[in-house]
Amino acid sequence: MDIASIRKDYKLKELSEKQIASSPDIQFKFWFEEAVKAEVPEVNAMVLSTVGQNSRPSARVVLVKDFDKNGIVFYTNYKSQKAIEMLGNPFASLTFFWPQLERQVRVEGIVEKVSEDESIRYYNSRPWESRVGAWVSNQSEEIENREKLEKLFTELDSKFKKEGSIPKPENWGGYRLKPEFYEFWQGRPSRLHDRICYELENGDWRIFRLAP
Ligand SMILES: Cc1cc2nc3c(=O)[nH]c(=O)nc-3n(C[C@H](O)[C@H](O)[C@H](O)COP(=O)(O)O)c2cc1C
Repeated sequence: MDIASIRKDYKLKELSEKQIASSPDIQFKFWFEEAVKAEVPEVNAMVLSTVGQNSRPSARVVLVKDFDKNGIVFYTNYKSQKAIEMLGNPFASLTFFWPQLERQVRVEGIVEKVSEDESIRYYNSRPWESRVGAWVSNQSEEIENREKLEKLFTELDSKFKKEGSIPKPENWGGYRLKPEFYEFWQGRPSRLHDRICYELENGDWRIFRLAP
């Protein structure tokens, strides 16, 4: 297979200073809605990058569950590798890739836990099986085999069904990344892509363009 010859020329759209919103959360909402309309698969999937011990980065996909001018929210296990890393270093970045629109969005900022109420509200909106799953998985811990996981799922599923309700595990909840930087990338022909950025400076968003 000739991997080096795989390439794509981008020509669907353009992004200019004239059309961009004055605040990045509005621009993000606009692009997110277009990505939903374009039926981008797993449109709410984003790569969360964190920094661990010895400045080593790690990255994984998580799902965005809410966003507005205050930030971008995702849910996970508070004892997972990513959670431990964010405790040690609250700077994180999010990357969205929407190939059907030839777009990438990068967001950087500081993460903080959402309120317990917000986490409970979202937890209770999840399907029953996902709520049981949150109890079963000590995310990012080494486990002996899959059978033990499935056995625990069956046990906890019937325990909570008997009790008639399922509370949110203490070690599960949301984070909000409070953005300080956004980059909106639109693929263009000849690798002359549009990259328009917003950077928070003294409470205002400075808008600028980067070389592709
Ligand atoms: C499409 C997709 C969506 C995912 N969504 C989440 C999510 O919302 N929350 C989460 O904790 N893990 C999610 N995961 C799993 C993570 O990528 C990762 O395996 C897990 O969170 C453990 O990461 P860590 O060990 O770095 O903490 C998702 C994975 C994929 C591929």
